[in-house]
Amino acid sequence: MEFNKVKNIRGQVTIPGDKSISHRAVMIGSIAKGTTEVTNFLQGADCLSTIDCFQKMGIEIINNTDTVTIKGKGLHGLTKPSSILDVGNSGTTTRLISGILVAQDFNVQLNGDASIQKRPMKRIIEPLSLMGANIKSVNGNDCTPLEITGSPLNAIHYNSKVASAQVKSSILLAGLYADGISSVTEPYLSRNHSELMLNAYGANVTSTNATATITPVEELFAQKIDVPGDISSAAYFMVAGLIVPNSEILIKNVGINPTRDGIIRVCQAMGANIEIMNEKQSGGETTADILVKSSSLHGITISGEIIPTLIDEIPVIAVLACFAQGQTVIKDAAELKVKESNRIDTVANNLKNMGADITATEDGLIIIGGESLHGAIIESHMDHRIAMSFAIASLVSEGTTTINDAECVDISYPQFYDDLNKLSK
Ligand code: S3P
Repeated sequence: MEFNKVKNIRGQVTIPGDKSISHRAVMIGSIAKGTTEVTNFLQGADCLSTIDCFQKMGIEIINNTDTVTIKGKGLHGLTKPSSILDVGNSGTTTRLISGILVAQDFNVQLNGDASIQKRPMKRIIEPLSLMGANIKSVNGNDCTPLEITGSPLNAIHYNSKVASAQVKSSILLAGLYADGISSVTEPYLSRNHSELMLNAYGANVTSTNATATITPVEELFAQKIDVPGDISSAAYFMVAGLIVPNSEILIKNVGINPTRDGIIRVCQAMGANIEIMNEKQSGGETTADILVKSSSLHGITISGEIIPTLIDEIPVIAVLACFAQGQTVIKDAAELKVKESNRIDTVANNLKNMGADITATEDGLIIIGGESLHGAIIESHMDHRIAMSFAIASLVSEGTTTINDAECVDISYPQFYDDLNKLSK
């Protein structure tokens, strides 16, 4: 797909539902008793994979686009699927559903696309096995396909080496079925949507610093969930509004949970003109409208505990850093290597091709801003966040940018290009 420089971008955009929260609504709704109604559900391919997996395990899920209705059957209501569960491209589906499957009274195989077959699963196989789970990588490479046979689980206290909400959530979901109190401690706090939603459904999860603790309950009970807009999707418009001259964008209905708002804090620290308005609470999550205007920016260092709060936004932060004076250093972000693509390499190589001064490091990126960018051929590597980040870079680059496999944005934001076109002048 081809993209060209624009004069400015102006107007307002309403961001589709949060991917992490949409996945959790289907999973937790399916193992709760009663009918869960989900509004503003993200109709992205990843979340549709999660719906498909639970439908295959006997849960009636009606997807009316506006509202998804899940007829949950309680903690022990899932039934053995008649085929492999297909997780598609979704790491969140794979790792979270595994935490549920290890406790069922049937066996199942999980598999997905070429990308998911390379994502590391040892991070969940290890703690779930310590709980007594029977979960193995069919090819012995610690990746999918996974073979899971449900079994009784014992509680554990687990120190995770990585700050990963997928690892934490997998253990918490398994902990719902364990014989006592389980806890997970992370090096830094990762997104806490599982903790918030489980409690809204009647679970008993407590959180202190970077430790989450779950005490099993008899049942979870259906809820109404209104999914906030995804801050990871909003990030593309925040960056566009800041780097395209004479621009102003109102980004509506964005989830600003403090475990996800690192992108806002980074923009502010770089000198951005960004305003948070109209804050509201819903189901333990906070939403707001965000107004961004073109700004003159300076480089900063981004490291440590802020990293998990903006991990998916680093590709577009790298684009932002190209338009900030001075040096931006991103470190402590080695997790980028095991996302839908190796995002340290895919960001560095593509930005270099556009003329940026960028160096890949072992755990991040170093960018010297202030150089102008030019169009190039961008390899998205079928990674939705790479495609969207470079669509934003193209708005301020001389000449034409061609993004290969640009349609991979379907994973998390199917109408992304339409929304971007409506704002571009
Ligand atoms: C997610 C957690 C993050 C994030 C992913 C969604 C989640 O992954 O990158 O897009 O919904 O829990 P990790 O937990 O592997 O950091």
